[in-house]
Amino acid sequence: MTLTRSIQHRNPKPEVQSRKPSGATAMRLIVPLQGVVQGRGGLIFGSLIPCALFYFLQLYLKRHRSPNSQSSPSSPSTSSSNLAEMTRTSSRSNLLSRGSIGPVRISSRASSIAKPNDSPYYVGLDKASEDPYDRIGNPDGVIQLGLSENRLCFDLIEKWMLENLRDSIMGREGGDLSISGIATYQPFDGTMELKLAMAGFMSRVMGGAVSFEPLQMVLTAGATPAIETLCFCLADHGNAFLVPTPYYPGFDRDVKWRTGVELIPVHCRSTDNFMLTISALDQAFNQTRKRGTKIRGILLSNPANPVGNLLSREMLYELLDFAREKNIHIISDEIFAGSMYGKEEFVSMAEVLDSEDSDKSRVHIVYGLSKDLSLPGFRVGMIYSFNENVLAAARKLTRFSSISAPTQRLLVSMLSDTRFIEEYIETNKKRIQNMHDLFVAGLQELGINCADSSAGLYCWADMSKLTPTYSEKGELELWDMLLNVAKINVTPGSACHCIEPGWFRCCFTALAPEDIPVVMGRIREVAEICTQSS
Ligand SMILES: *[C@@H]1O[C@H](CO)[C@@H](O)[C@H](O)[C@H]1NC(C)=O
Repeated sequence: MTLTRSIQHRNPKPEVQSRKPSGATAMRLIVPLQGVVQGRGGLIFGSLIPCALFYFLQLYLKRHRSPNSQSSPSSPSTSSSNLAEMTRTSSRSNLLSRGSIGPVRISSRASSIAKPNDSPYYVGLDKASEDPYDRIGNPDGVIQLGLSENRLCFDLIEKWMLENLRDSIMGREGGDLSISGIATYQPFDGTMELKLAMAGFMSRVMGGAVSFEPLQMVLTAGATPAIETLCFCLADHGNAFLVPTPYYPGFDRDVKWRTGVELIPVHCRSTDNFMLTISALDQAFNQTRKRGTKIRGILLSNPANPVGNLLSREMLYELLDFAREKNIHIISDEIFAGSMYGKEEFVSMAEVLDSEDSDKSRVHIVYGLSKDLSLPGFRVGMIYSFNENVLAAARKLTRFSSISAPTQRLLVSMLSDTRFIEEYIETNKKRIQNMHDLFVAGLQELGINCADSSAGLYCWADMSKLTPTYSEKGELELWDMLLNVAKINVTPGSACHCIEPGWFRCCFTALAPEDIPVVMGRIREVAEICTQSS
């Protein structure tokens, strides 16, 4: 016992305390002893005696090591029922004595995601949601023009819900809906009923020019997982997609975070009203390939977010040719297809494929109900693909992002109510158009022009005359003033990877018409400060 105790006293350092305290300490005793013996005489004594001593010492320690010798003095007695607790106490005191091992580690993937927002897009969204403007309740709050949300037809949705909510989920009396259809597991990739209803809605929204096949649909909890799942299925870590700029700032998170897929900006310019050209695409393709990065596809938004312009039928054919020539995919995000207000006609990639005898397996469409039916809170998105392998993988991946069964049932009812849907689509378009016209006219009075657009819940405004300097720095200074002085959150072009400074995306469908003069008044204040100081 004396020896054991002395070992405990001589081992204040954590590393010795860890696994084999006996062996390490014994060596400390043997080594000086070996020196003594060697000095007096002979190789045999010098090596044999210390070895024997070491052996017996090990044996002695092994025999006499009792549970008590390892536990801390304050721990309770060693009845077997206390053993688990005791070991825990002991290991906790070990941890505490180590001191400097630092906080527990998380993955490097999560660490980089956990960092505070650095994109002005998210900084502005947070700021506006902390202190939201309300005409009556909080007239000095931040006006949110950064979130593409459509509140213009909430009255219609609300009315429908009041009349139909219960019956749509639980069924009419004597109907065939039952609780077992929503409380039990349902297909992760969406019910066939909802796929059929979505096919009808999409066709209607796109003017009846194209029909959609439910078997080519995979439903997801919003368009965000639809885009991520597609990128996951089409590209490996380190591969890239070409994306025309300016592009939706969320793509950087949606695509890159978990898949490790890169986005390569393809710069479009104000002189072309930010329309994509094949030569810009070709140039970006060549440059990226020269760097050794594999390009797996083009990621488009049509109608474009944030500009609100459309890809022409001719351009869609050229894009298909380009994709065929390079053997890459096309992801066409058409989530704003029904939020049209211009005279121009929207042409879906699906419509072009119908008339084209081409290899369709490289084309994938993204859709959802967050914009055209103003229901982002419902989380309904879709992958529409012509590629059987992509569909098979995506269906399995929806286990991570499926839509709840009650939501699906409610939507089947709502989307099948043709009278409601027709009225909704008509009214919605009129109201978006009205807001667009009022908003753009208001900006024009302040000398701010917008890019030509025909769709979307936003306008793309050129405020470069107001920026302190014609640079990204100047653009961010103006953004900061709009957010903190005027209390208006808009999205700066740099967050959308726009190559020209001074452009801002302003979403106008979360406002009421009577808020527009307030917005314009606040922008005027900043404009006056800017023009005075320059
Ligand atoms: C890209 O490379 C192709 C083939 O090497 C070439 O024909 C084309 O002119 C290049 N395009 C641009 C814009 O540099």
